[in-house]
Amino acid sequence: VLEHALRPKQFEEYIGQEKIRGQLQIFIEAARRRKEALDHVLLFGPPGLGKTTLAHIIAREMGVSLRQTSGPVLERPGDLAALLTNLEPNDVLFIDEIHRLSPVVEEILYPALEDYQLDIMIGEGPAARSVKIDLPPFTLVGATTRAGMLTNPLRDRFGIVSRLEFYTADELSKIVLRSAGLLNVKASFEGAMEIACRARGTPRIANRLLRRVRDFAEIKAEGCVTRPVADEALKMLDVDAIGLDVLDRKLLLAVLEKFEGGPVGIDNLAAAINEERDTIEDVLEPYLIQQGFIKRTPRGRVATAITYQHFNILPPRNNLMDD
Ligand code: ADE
Repeated sequence: VLEHALRPKQFEEYIGQEKIRGQLQIFIEAARRRKEALDHVLLFGPPGLGKTTLAHIIAREMGVSLRQTSGPVLERPGDLAALLTNLEPNDVLFIDEIHRLSPVVEEILYPALEDYQLDIMIGEGPAARSVKIDLPPFTLVGATTRAGMLTNPLRDRFGIVSRLEFYTADELSKIVLRSAGLLNVKASFEGAMEIACRARGTPRIANRLLRRVRDFAEIKAEGCVTRPVADEALKMLDVDAIGLDVLDRKLLLAVLEKFEGGPVGIDNLAAAINEERDTIEDVLEPYLIQQGFIKRTPRGRVATAITYQHFNILPPRNNLMDD
């Protein structure tokens, strides 16, 4: 069973993100009654929280088809034009990593979004002409890890802007139990909750941990995911008691030990742990910030009292933690 097999196909099966789900259900129902395309939707938030899943559910609930692409794949205006001219009325076009669209592609997207019109140049030199092509009404669903990386004109063209939040342990435990059912794994509530508490608020991580714990359970514990089995398996995977993995700890320990708790600039931090700056900002930091392990300040990242406590390290005197 692959990852996409675990994805809910309709809102009825979808767990969590109550606010977004409630809003989208109303907007979708209203658009359906008017027989119109749903307004363009921007989904943003850290990886693994369900942006792609939601795009598919939106299309399904609208009763239309979904075409999927991503920002870096659309190299030339013609790539986007080919997709747009092949849509059926009210279809969903899903562009993942929409912050990575090239400026020339973004340019032709504007009139497409606003007036369902394509403005493209054909030919070159003196023979070049601009042609306008009418498009069917459609919905763009754009996904990005950070809304701040979109240009203002692009962001302004989305009628619906939704920020995905980290899931609670309660929600994740339900997701783990649902996935266990689909994977034919026996799991106790406590076993599911142990995985849920250590999944960084992220369904994709919860499902990945479930598979690894299942392997462990099959070889060492007659196949049942109980709390002690989950705990042992997660220890073996270097996932700590509150769900931080090797990379999380490396980052936090660098702030504590190499930069005396900060403030440290993001590029210095990236160099110190040999990671891409984008990986730190998109993948690692959001959860650590939400959990209060790191703060962003104008002078850089700083550790907090919680971070020192977690690693059992005494905070230095006079540091800038709590200013
Ligand atoms: N699997 C992954 N994300 C999910 C969600 N939000 N609800 C149910 N199952 C999921």
